[in-house]
This record gives sequence, C-alpha cells and structure tokens, in this order.
Amino acid sequence: MHEFKYIKNDLYCEDLRVSEIAASFGTPLYLYSHKTLLDHFHKLENAFRDVKPLICFSMKANSSLAVCKALIKEGAGLDIVSGGELYKALHIGVDPRKIVYASVGKTASEIESAVSNDILFFNVESMPELEMLNGIATRLNKKVNVSIRLNPDIKAKTHAYIRTARSVDKFGLDYRSCRELFLCSDKFANLNLVGLHIHIGSQIVDSGPFVKAITRAVSLIRELRKKGVVIQWLNIGGGLGIVYHQERPQSASEFASKVLPLLKKIDIKIILEPGRFIAGNSGILVTKVIYLKEAPSKNFIIVDAAMNDLMRPMLYGAYHEILPVYDSSREEFTADVVGPICESGDFLARDRKLSRVQPGELLAIMGTGAYGFTMSSNYNSRPRSAEVMVINSRPYLIRKRERYEDLISSEVIPDCLQ
Ligand code: LLP
Repeated sequence: MHEFKYIKNDLYCEDLRVSEIAASFGTPLYLYSHKTLLDHFHKLENAFRDVKPLICFSMKANSSLAVCKALIKEGAGLDIVSGGELYKALHIGVDPRKIVYASVGKTASEIESAVSNDILFFNVESMPELEMLNGIATRLNKKVNVSIRLNPDIKAKTHAYIRTARSVDKFGLDYRSCRELFLCSDKFANLNLVGLHIHIGSQIVDSGPFVKAITRAVSLIRELRKKGVVIQWLNIGGGLGIVYHQERPQSASEFASKVLPLLKKIDIKIILEPGRFIAGNSGILVTKVIYLKEAPSKNFIIVDAAMNDLMRPMLYGAYHEILPVYDSSREEFTADVVGPICESGDFLARDRKLSRVQPGELLAIMGTGAYGFTMSSNYNSRPRSAEVMVINSRPYLIRKRERYEDLISSEVIPDCLQ
C-alpha cells in the first residue's frame, strides 16, 4: 500500500498533485510520501509487538537525512554499514544505543569512531575483524557489544547479487565457526559476545528461507546456552520483499506469524533491520519525456532520468512500474524507456506498454524509495536529482538538486597542469 494514487487523471502524492510538485522542484525528482514511510514502519512494529523488537532501518536503502529522521522520531534505530552512515546517523541525533553496524570490511578508523560513540552492536563477520575490534576496544578502554553473523547456508529465491547467506557468500561465519567462537569468547576481554545476527538477502517474498535461517539460529542459541554461553539478542536482519510488478510478498503480519513462534521459544531480545520494506514503496522518481524516437525495430521514450539516477533496472534487470503523471486515454505504445547516457544498458524499462506520452510530459517510476537515490551517481557528469518529501500536505525539499559547480567542487588540477 502506498499514497501515490490517481484522482481523476492526475497522479497524487498523498493530497498533492505530482505535476505541481515537479513544476516547482524540477525533474528528475525523487518524491517521498511521509505517510507511506511511517505506515510501513508501524506495520512491522505492530506485527512484532508481542516481542517489542528494536527496528533498525537499514540506511543503505535510503540514507537521506529527512527519511531517517522521520523514522527515528517514531522510535526506529538505524542499521549502518560504513563510517559515512555512522556520521549521518549521529548527525540526525539517533540514540547510539539504537545503532547496529554490519559490514564485512569495517576499517580500523570506522571501528574506532563507532566504539567511541558507544553504538549498540557490532555485527561481526570474521575472526580477524573480531580481533581488530577487541584491540581497538581495549585501547579505548571500552566494553563493546558484539553479535556474530551466522551464515546459515541458505539459498533464498532472489537476484543472485543480493543473496547473502550461502556458504560461498562473503558474509558471516558458518555454524561451527560461530559455535567455536562463542565458546572461546573469554579470549576477548573487551567484547561482550551477547548477540547473534543473520541476514539472508534482500527482496525475499516468502517466509520459507527466513524460517529456515531462524531455526538454525535458534538451535545454535540453545546449544550455546546449554554450554553456559548467554546470548541475549537475536538480530534477524532485513530482506522482506515488496511489490514491484507481480510479486505477492508476505505482509508484515504473515511474516510475523511464521517467525514469531520460533522466536518465542527462546527468551531473547529481537532486532530487525528492514530497509526496502519500509522505504521502497514510499518513493517515486519523477522524470520528464524529452523525445520520442520511433525506429523501425523499436520505439524509445527518452527521458531526463537515467541509470545514474536509478541503477536497479540496469544492474539487476529490475522491473519498476512506470505510470504517466497525467493519465488520459491515448493509444497504447510499446517502447523502451531510456535515459540520455551513452550506454545501451541505460534503460529504465524495456518493451514496456505505455500510453503514447508526448515530449514534456511526466512519468513516475514507482517503487524507488529504496536503493534509488542511495545508488545514484554522477556518471556522465550528471548532477544528482533533488529529493522532496510530502509531509502533512506540504512538499518539503529534503535534498537540493546538485549544480554543475558541485560536480567540480572536490576536484583539483595540479599546478603542473595549469
Ligand atoms: N541488513 C543487512 C546486513 C543488509 O546487508 C541489508 C541489505 C539489509 C539489512 C536491508 O535489506 P532489505 O530489508 O532492504 O532487503 N541494492 C539492492 C539491495 C541490496 C541489499 C543489501 N543489503 C537492490 O537495489 O535491490
């Protein structure tokens, strides 16, 4: 469910016309509905209310400050993956005891700043990382909470690039290594090994793989408890799929009904790290048609957004619904929707049936609130787009459109080239 709907022929974001917002802020434009964002957060919170989890929004899905701030005001924590995300998280005033930090490659300086800021958990993925973390914690005289990331060796049905829990994937540690590590946890004087973490991949639409992974985690926790290792937290990761096309993803309550019985078997505090489920359908990318090109073998709708604005179609062959912002009845037209970038991979949709839009008209690329702006770039020296959020019937600019000056502001031409 989301708040982008037609009223008569006009697409609205909540109660504002998308065309009017685009006229004020220009295109390409990421446009978010605050109501949709909160609605998805609360759906998950309600579904899991029996275990009162800490829901850490995964910043990699959307790290715009206003998006994250809107969520932390509702009680969310943040799941971070880099020093940059830590910086942004602290900047918006999230309680550091609601930050969890996952990454297979945390650098010493990233670890140091997260330790100094007393975050809630480091989700540790390897023995060398654990040793590095213990060394830094000792030097800073801090005691740090650690979750070990279990790789449960599960192949979830999703795009191969975003599966993370097969034994050949770079993430986490296998069952045996996890067990051994917990059993020798006294070696790490400045670490509290009190958590277990799993994250099996992203855009997973059914509960089967989650149930399998959680079952393995629960069995490890039980086995360890029998041996006197006290695990107090289980982080079940993110990964819930959403509707892009014809998927029929589980709802938050269906998901909870499958996994809660497992979680309730052990007395444990729960963390969730959803990104896409919360932000994905709360945002659209509004773009303007520049030209129609009718070639003998294909039609092209050439728009002002491109793969630098939205990587997902090119990178994963991902499907995003495309809707006309003004929907009048016109003849059907099958075309590739493409950007101006100099690569044939620069498409937003292929062989898509749309109504015959005209140059100057607007299109909305749906479901782009997660992994949309965060994966955008300046390729072809294209300034990144603006972002606007509708909150209580008003459109707020939450990120200025980049200017050409921004493109060169961090570059230096050495004197010898002058
Ligand atoms: N926790 C960890 C440790 C993760 O690696 C991820 C996502 C999440 C949570 C959030 O997962 P979500 O709930 O959003 O599925 N760029 C790709 C998605 C990559 C996901 C990476 N990890 C895409 O556009 O589909």
